[in-house]
Amino acid sequence: MTTKVEVRGIYKNYGAVEALRGVDVTIREGEIHAICGDNGAGKSTLIKILSGVEIPDQGEFKIDNLPRRFETPTEALTSGLATIHQDLAVASRMAIYQNIFMGAELTRSVMGLRLLDKKRMREASLRYMGQLNKSITDMNTKVEALSGGQRQAVAICRALRWNAQIVILDEPTAALGVRETEQVLELIRSLKAAGKTVILISHSMKDVVATADRVTILRQGKTQLSMETDGLNADRLAHYILSGETVSSH
Ligand SMILES: Nc1ncnc2c1ncn2[C@@H]1O[C@H](COP(=O)(O)OP(=O)(O)OP(=O)(O)O)[C@@H](O)[C@H]1O
Ligand SMILES: [Mg+2]
Repeated sequence: MTTKVEVRGIYKNYGAVEALRGVDVTIREGEIHAICGDNGAGKSTLIKILSGVEIPDQGEFKIDNLPRRFETPTEALTSGLATIHQDLAVASRMAIYQNIFMGAELTRSVMGLRLLDKKRMREASLRYMGQLNKSITDMNTKVEALSGGQRQAVAICRALRWNAQIVILDEPTAALGVRETEQVLELIRSLKAAGKTVILISHSMKDVVATADRVTILRQGKTQLSMETDGLNADRLAHYILSGETVSSH
């Protein structure tokens, strides 16, 4: 099994708050890897470090065995790591295709003028969307007309547009109902089927055991435990988080 992301000994303080105190995580290529842990355990801080929002005080991470340090989110994105934040940051008044190509619009040249190539963006958007959700066919649809799960699909398409090999989702189902949650879990599985490596931050034990191959639990800024989800149920996972046990025995 190939290692995709290797995190070693990451420390991060915010003033006097020790958010991360030596985190180690190994993410394998092509897996869905969940990051769990109580409020304040350091999950979002870890994701911010991987995605170029924060710089660690100590420690390193490697992607494809190369030490990386992203100074900005754009740097992470252009290096193949896309993060879909909880607030999604989609522009609801804009069309699906405009959201997918935001910041990287396709253009064509007409008599020396550079014009937006809407047709090509719509066609490409439809291809990306087709990989995730075949029910949405009109790429001119404004995002405000979409459901929460469909918006999540648009945000994921943006990651596909950048050809991200690693997709990080921070609480993708937190605001969703049962049916929408099921759709988003299906999206996550299709990312894996497309060969992507997925990092899923979630408070939902149910979602984690239903989708993830492995899970890492953070506790008070440290890695408590990493394990396979085979044979693991939601109650057992919650037990590990509550008890702080450092060895898996499920
Ligand atoms: N910008 C910041 N300034 C100061 N302290 C921060 C900042 N960001 C996070 N922290 C602190 O760092 C610790 C880890 O926070 P983090 O957001 O990484 O936790 P989390 O595991 O994502 O929690 P949650 O499940 O509630 O989202 C917490 O004690 C938090 O209060
Ligand atoms: Mg968080």
